[in-house]
Amino acid sequence: MNIFDKIEDMRGAIQAAQIETADQLEQFRIKYIGSKGEIKTLFKQIKEVPNERKREFGQLVNALKQSAETRFQSLKDSLETVAESKVEVPDLSLPISDERLGSRHPISIVRDQMVDIFKRIGFVTVEGPEIENDWFNFTALNTPADHPARDMQDTFYISKKEDPAMLLRTHTSAAQARIMQTQKPPIRIIVPGRVFRNETISARAHCQFHQVEGLYIAENVSFADLKQTLLYFAREMYGEKSRIQLRPSYFPFTEPSAEMDVSCFICDSKGCAVCKHTGWVEILGCGMVDPAVLEACGIDSEKYTGFAFGIGIERTAMLKYKVNDLRLFFENDVRFLKQFQSVV
Ligand code: PHE
Repeated sequence: MNIFDKIEDMRGAIQAAQIETADQLEQFRIKYIGSKGEIKTLFKQIKEVPNERKREFGQLVNALKQSAETRFQSLKDSLETVAESKVEVPDLSLPISDERLGSRHPISIVRDQMVDIFKRIGFVTVEGPEIENDWFNFTALNTPADHPARDMQDTFYISKKEDPAMLLRTHTSAAQARIMQTQKPPIRIIVPGRVFRNETISARAHCQFHQVEGLYIAENVSFADLKQTLLYFAREMYGEKSRIQLRPSYFPFTEPSAEMDVSCFICDSKGCAVCKHTGWVEILGCGMVDPAVLEACGIDSEKYTGFAFGIGIERTAMLKYKVNDLRLFFENDVRFLKQFQSVV
């Protein structure tokens, strides 16, 4: 065959080439444009071409090489497009896998459980601000500026320039006065929330933690009502065999004041490290609302009485889940957090 016809044939073959796989594409490359391919061989055959046509031959072979390369690129492109279009389309009707579902934070689980227990006996949940002023956090609660009890809680002040000064609330009791100012008795509320104290962070203390405040104000509310409410709470929260004990204590805003222990549900009061071998674990502070607090908030203390309590959520969660380091609740380590199952 005439060498010029051969070029023509090859051009036709290159244009007509069809490929379906990457393998075939590679074969195409080796056959035509590879270093030992047919076009290279053609170049070498220039010596067989008569001198007067060498120039024409050279141009034709060069053009052939060009078109082989262009063809190779377009075959390659279309192969990639096909590959892309074959990417599996997910079946959106399949049920989702629950492997990566998050889990609830243990503090949220325990908080909701507490809220639920009090809801069943008529306590309404309200919230108060975390950034508070001095009046609600202290003064209204019978703790004026020069009161030594202010030292009981190491406060983060935000600004002392204003009057009253701004601070991060040191207890959810700050919400008591806010509610009493705006609602008329009977008041029966709980306030779950975060509080802040300037404490050195350790396994047992943190600069932030959570409380659930309770406040009940109506006519003829007695200490017996407080005790019964807390006994109900302890039995719902820690099991129906739980017993409670109230120890005299001091808070400026309650009189009388008490701290409540619950019988140790870890060792069944036999004595263990958690209850420090006493059989009892302290879980909350409480008392009858001091008449001075009622008066500061515009409630007639001759007519109304009330009780209040503040429960630490971390402490309860630590006991319930046998967690021995408070810091774990704030580190957001997923390996820790995913172990807790909501029991509510
Ligand atoms: N606010 C107190 C504390 O944080 C707890 C408390 C609340 C005590 C209500 C009595 C009444 O320590």
